[in-house]
Amino acid sequence: MRIKFVDLAAQNLEIGDRVAFELDLINATTAYVGGDQVESFEREFAQFLGVKRAMGVANGTDALRIALLALGIGPGDEVITVPMTFIATAAAIVQTGARPRFVDIDPDTGNISLPALCSFLESRPRSERSAIRAIVPVHLYGLPAPMVELKEIAAEFNLKIVEDACQAHGARVRTAAGMAMAGTLGDAGCFSFYPGKNLGAWGDGGAVVTNDDEVARRVSLLGNHGRLSHYAHEICGYNSRLDSIQAAVLRAKLERLAEWNERRRVIASAYRELLTPWDALPILEPEGAESCFHLFVIRSTRRDAIRNALLQNDIECGIHYPVPLHLQPALAYLGYRPGDFPASEALADTTLSLPMHPHLNGQEILRTVETVASALVSNKEPFATQRPAVSPLIVTASSYS
Ligand SMILES: Cc1ncc(COP(=O)(O)O)c(C=O)c1O
Repeated sequence: MRIKFVDLAAQNLEIGDRVAFELDLINATTAYVGGDQVESFEREFAQFLGVKRAMGVANGTDALRIALLALGIGPGDEVITVPMTFIATAAAIVQTGARPRFVDIDPDTGNISLPALCSFLESRPRSERSAIRAIVPVHLYGLPAPMVELKEIAAEFNLKIVEDACQAHGARVRTAAGMAMAGTLGDAGCFSFYPGKNLGAWGDGGAVVTNDDEVARRVSLLGNHGRLSHYAHEICGYNSRLDSIQAAVLRAKLERLAEWNERRRVIASAYRELLTPWDALPILEPEGAESCFHLFVIRSTRRDAIRNALLQNDIECGIHYPVPLHLQPALAYLGYRPGDFPASEALADTTLSLPMHPHLNGQEILRTVETVASALVSNKEPFATQRPAVSPLIVTASSYS
């Protein structure tokens, strides 16, 4: 039996009736763009996150672009982000007319490295520092970036923060005021509702969230033709709206999100425990950061052997991401070279995402780990901590089903 990387059909079984009911209402009112469903979702998502405002947009890339534009970022500006992320993070910066500036990641977490960020900022001559306007930290794989420290650095260097929370629905960060949701700590937070996300639509969707009313106003204008009323336009904006059908799906899934994220965390701890003896290091959750485990990622110098074994055994897996952005042809004009960001390059060479979704059962976890282990055992290279393939599997299948 194939083990799926994500299982959207299983999610649909849980929400199908609720969505069918809402779809009938949408068809009855024919409010397909905007309307009650979208407004209700925006209110409920803001409430879930504990943030003042949430504005639906067409996708996560638009959320990032529109949030940056709403904060006044544009041509001549520079925006700091990491090379180990999906292309959309940098593309959104480029689309505003600004220039992405990469800093390397922390090798243990995959998120922005604070020492690398500080040395980048301090190494720039004072006269050039004013061009740097914002940081886009990425909560990679669902693990929050170190937001408390980032906010301090941003305040010192007068930078805006736009959180790329496209993989981090429901991830949490410890702050002086208690646990806070990823996406709510910067000037704006951006979410993708691509179907495979922890909170995914039945198509594309996204949202910008903020506690700042003026940023919220500008995001709303930018995403909906700059509209003040139907035919009065303050600015030339975009057509980037969340539609009602996606909002209805998202409302139904939002009701399950906390429970689904909790199941992901249980699955992640099972994986972590079972993988302990093997050369397959999971990404660490540092003190004060709670991942929502959008992906469960291991790192191994024998990644390709593990990947081949998984695929041969009908177990889906992924590489997020095989080429860091500073080495992508689309961004060659930035002038970076191989070796510029060693931690990002090392992660790209070793990273492997195992099946992870809330409906993964105990047998599937065990079969996945056994396959990882057997790939490492059968690999001919010498490896000091090789163990027999089956002995470490001390957790019974039913514990996690
Ligand atoms: C880190 C990150 N940023 C941005 C995006 C862009 O989101 P979307 O695909 O909805 O445009 C994604 C989506 O895959 C992502 O993973």
